[in-house]
Amino acid sequence: MHKFPTFSLTPCKTMLQTIPSTMKAQDKDRVSCYFTKVGRNANLERLQYNYLFPEISERELRHIKKYPNAKVISLGIGDTTEPIPEIIASSMANYARSLSTPQGYKGYGAEQGNKDLRKAVAETFYKDMGIKDSEVFISDGSQCDISRLQMLFGSNVSIAVQDPSFPAYIDTGVITGQTGDYEKGSGRYQNIAYMECGPENNFFPDLPKTDRTDIIFFCSPNNPTGHASSREQLEQLVEFAQQNGSIIVYDSAYAVYITDGPRSIYEIPGARKVAIEVSSFSKIAGFTGVRLGWTVVPKELVYSNGFPVINDFNRIVCTCFNGASNIAQAGGLACLSSDGFKAVLSNVNYYKENAEILMNTFTSLGLRVYGGVNAPYVWVHFPGSNSWDVFNEILEKTHIITVPGSGFGPGGREFIRVTAFSHRENILEASERLRSFLS
Ligand SMILES: Cc1ncc(COP(=O)(O)O)c(C=O)c1O
Repeated sequence: MHKFPTFSLTPCKTMLQTIPSTMKAQDKDRVSCYFTKVGRNANLERLQYNYLFPEISERELRHIKKYPNAKVISLGIGDTTEPIPEIIASSMANYARSLSTPQGYKGYGAEQGNKDLRKAVAETFYKDMGIKDSEVFISDGSQCDISRLQMLFGSNVSIAVQDPSFPAYIDTGVITGQTGDYEKGSGRYQNIAYMECGPENNFFPDLPKTDRTDIIFFCSPNNPTGHASSREQLEQLVEFAQQNGSIIVYDSAYAVYITDGPRSIYEIPGARKVAIEVSSFSKIAGFTGVRLGWTVVPKELVYSNGFPVINDFNRIVCTCFNGASNIAQAGGLACLSSDGFKAVLSNVNYYKENAEILMNTFTSLGLRVYGGVNAPYVWVHFPGSNSWDVFNEILEKTHIITVPGSGFGPGGREFIRVTAFSHRENILEASERLRSFLS
């Protein structure tokens, strides 16, 4: 029989006494009395700072402690606020209730997702683009699928990201071991191609000057800039990937907010051979808590040895996931019914109106504002400023939470991101406070 070793706990007291009083609470928790012999994952050690959004939540909590009577308005993290339409919520409730009956009970479903939902996603979002339901994998959200894709690619690939970009691409790249160390001066990790996207290049990278990488993460409309790439821009991107033999991971989580321009990379001829698309019900239907998304992997997308990527993705999904919640999938199907889709689009339009109010507010104050038209994010330029300073000043003076642009990469250092995901009365009050503070 295995015999466990015995431990001495004597160093504890001495060790705890040496914890500096300035150490943050969560770091103190990390210092336990007993150490295992397991080394920390070196890739995680490379990660800088907290993940952006928990850091902002922490600052919000500290602010509330400092000003307990202030009404804090959060235009920060970008979580949806409006209720899920009744037709969709009741379909989930009915499904959940039926699980309590012998006829309605269901256990595991297909790892790739409910066949009807895969079909509905293909028909609703990829009509006339040649995407088959067998190429759609239903997930528990696109952020989870970004991580699964990173597991699929492994540590030996090189990656490119828009700068600024949604932090998950870089952070999962670091965790997977695709990057080198973080360089404090530049605010960048080694071995990542940062594709600068700012007002000077109409938020589209200078591709002829971009290094070749295996994988190109590309988000449109981009979070945080709110810029939706035009057809011509996406044609250039697909051509760039074709020339370099790269794979684009196209994040279309906000595509439903686009009024004019392509909503999917597969609208671009040739994309099936070079692109995977990740997407989500989170910002379409307020499913940020319900958790439902999808990933499209076309059959024609193959590795350098001719092996289909879809076969490996299927393997990853079967091994590491086991399928999305059947209740959430019932909700997804209701979203894509004709009445359900009308109802979710009404919420999308509500957020778009919020974005317009915010854009008008900042514009009337003489600031340069981007995004907002085809996206629920407004990207505000404060030339020459540091975005964390702007974040702190706005919070201190108006009790409004925003997001400092530098949290999305060094390209965001002079910007703040303001979300349109909020109740209308908060948007109106925030506009008033901003007008009196900034005018
Ligand atoms: C660009 C982008 N991709 C993916 C996600 C994650 O979405 P999900 O809720 O589907 O995981 C977000 C969430 O904010 C996002 O902004």
